[in-house]
Amino acid sequence: MTSPARTDTPPEPPLLEARALTRILPAVVPVTLVKDVSFRIGKSEFVAITGPSGSGKSSLLYLLGLLDRPTSGQVLIGGEPTDALSPAEMAHIRLKKLGFVFQFHFLLPEFTTLENVMIPMRKLGKLSASDQLAQATALLADLGLEDFLHRRPAQLSGGQRQRVAVARALANSPDLILADEPTGSLDSAATEQVFDSLRKIVETQKTTVVAVTHDMDLAARMERRIHLVDGQIDWDRQQA
Ligand SMILES: Nc1ncnc2c1ncn2[C@@H]1O[C@H](COP(=O)(O)OP(=O)(O)OP(=O)(O)O)[C@@H](O)[C@H]1O
Ligand SMILES: [Mg+2]
Repeated sequence: MTSPARTDTPPEPPLLEARALTRILPAVVPVTLVKDVSFRIGKSEFVAITGPSGSGKSSLLYLLGLLDRPTSGQVLIGGEPTDALSPAEMAHIRLKKLGFVFQFHFLLPEFTTLENVMIPMRKLGKLSASDQLAQATALLADLGLEDFLHRRPAQLSGGQRQRVAVARALANSPDLILADEPTGSLDSAATEQVFDSLRKIVETQKTTVVAVTHDMDLAARMERRIHLVDGQIDWDRQQA
């Protein structure tokens, strides 16, 4: 039996929500890394997180990416609270719904470009081997890497490696990419390539990208910017 069409459908929950997130490192003198941070980020948003060195940007990203747990407050993904999840459940959400890009690419040196992108697909085990190959090849071609499929990371430029890392982050079609200074170790040409790749993902795949950056020029070109000072949100605004 089908239920009648509802006209009062509740609004979709935000893709990512931080609710009063606080992270304190226990020590003789406890260190507050993140303090009372709240925001909601929707589908297909391209958000910069900025702030001085030591302001808690990476610590916040670890919390959002379920790589660390808050001392109080919570992270909701697609409206689902994550505070009661076991480490295995957190790992599964990371694999299925999230993609990570760090300042240093962390590609596995003994594997080729193609293999590095296929590793998260193998772990998730949703696609057949031939679909994994087709999907990884298509992702890499989208990022302009079709000529480098069989090279190892050491045989690529910094910008190329970082684009492989972006392709790997996209391997399982995540809802959300979390990037910590993805262009931090690149020159300006490679920075543009990686930035363009991220923007393209937001536009074409409706993926949300949240990227920490020191680069004020890049931050100004993202549609929203959240600025941290001393672990707290100083301001959060949409940009033209
Ligand atoms: N394990 C730790 N022990 C003690 N203090 C820590 C630890 N990890 C981080 N911190 C401190 O927490 C604060 C926030 O660190 P975090 O790495 O989140 O800053 P950040 O904004 O990412 O800085 P950067 O721009 O330099 O990468 C800093 O003052 C840092 O020194
Ligand atoms: Mg950092």
